[in-house]
Amino acid sequence: MALLSTPTSLPILLGLLSILLFHPITTTSGIRLGFVPRPSPDLPVFREAPAFRNGEQCGSENADGIHVAMTLDANYIRGTMAAVFSLLQHSACPANLYFHFLSAHTTPKFFSSIKSTFPYLNFKTYAFDSDRVRGKISKSIRQALDRPMNYARIYLADILPNEMRRVIYLDSDLVVVDDIAKLWSVDMEDMVVAAPEYCRANFTEYFTNAFWCDQDLSKTFQGRNPCYFNTGVMVVDVDKWRKGGYTQKVEEWMALQKRKRLYHLGSLPPFLLLLAGNIKAVDHRWNQHGLGGDNFEGRCRSLHPGPISLLHWSGKGKPWLRLDSRKPCTVDHLWAPYDLYHSSRHFLEE
Ligand SMILES: *[C@@H]1O[C@H](CO)[C@@H](O)[C@H](O)[C@H]1NC(C)=O
Repeated sequence: MALLSTPTSLPILLGLLSILLFHPITTTSGIRLGFVPRPSPDLPVFREAPAFRNGEQCGSENADGIHVAMTLDANYIRGTMAAVFSLLQHSACPANLYFHFLSAHTTPKFFSSIKSTFPYLNFKTYAFDSDRVRGKISKSIRQALDRPMNYARIYLADILPNEMRRVIYLDSDLVVVDDIAKLWSVDMEDMVVAAPEYCRANFTEYFTNAFWCDQDLSKTFQGRNPCYFNTGVMVVDVDKWRKGGYTQKVEEWMALQKRKRLYHLGSLPPFLLLLAGNIKAVDHRWNQHGLGGDNFEGRCRSLHPGPISLLHWSGKGKPWLRLDSRKPCTVDHLWAPYDLYHSSRHFLEE
């Protein structure tokens, strides 16, 4: 059974969430216009989300666009839908959100699935050619980390339109419970990436002895104070990323990893090698990560104390799988209100 280290925090949080959930700021049930394609038979079917409209304080949509990039993957689509739903619900100006979805297939099934679930959403889908990265991936400690889509974030700057300068990248196993505009407006101070930084994590453990014992490689972090950051939530200055040739730099580390094993995780360590100690640190509230438990067993974990704007089920356990198995962890009940999946079982129970 999951026990919270701070026993009072969950009920308070649940209370706050329910206030936010049942009093959405800008929800209206609009008129549905246009063609809505039928969902694909090999993807789950989701409930249609209501329209979320801007309040009067929001200004013109083009001027204040907030761009969010995520990946689409059949195994994680239930998580993606919940994440999008959570972002819309907690935005004061939801119509200013623009979603950029990267998927491994050029087939229109993902497009249809998004369109039928969120008929009013501003979004675009992009094909990510997984062959571009497949041969470069080294086996990690967890098979799910080795999916090519997990590496798509490296190629954001190349795939997104050139005129886009900033994007928030989000994993699919998270929900946002605050206005994403606050994260979007972070002052990057000339940094390429902004993310919460964890300087108390033992940084040494993210790399192998082969790395630390190599005379040249061990100098990688010289002149920096490197700290762990989680690449599932990042504000990226894609303009600086392009100009600095960061895609190629990540690929170079991946090529070296193939020859000498420098680390055991997947797409995260090359980001640390390049950027740790040189990112703009944002408040920890923007990534309460690790709720999926460890990488091996996915044991239940409790929340860390402090305010929370984003809950992230990184690690092996995913809330939709644990809820379906009827053995959810306590924290999974925080994800459930955003689940748009309409299984026949839920349907009968209503
Ligand atoms: C960090 O991890 C390394 C390798 O496991 C260990 O040798 C070192 O003592 C740890 N440092 C701290 C401060 O715990």
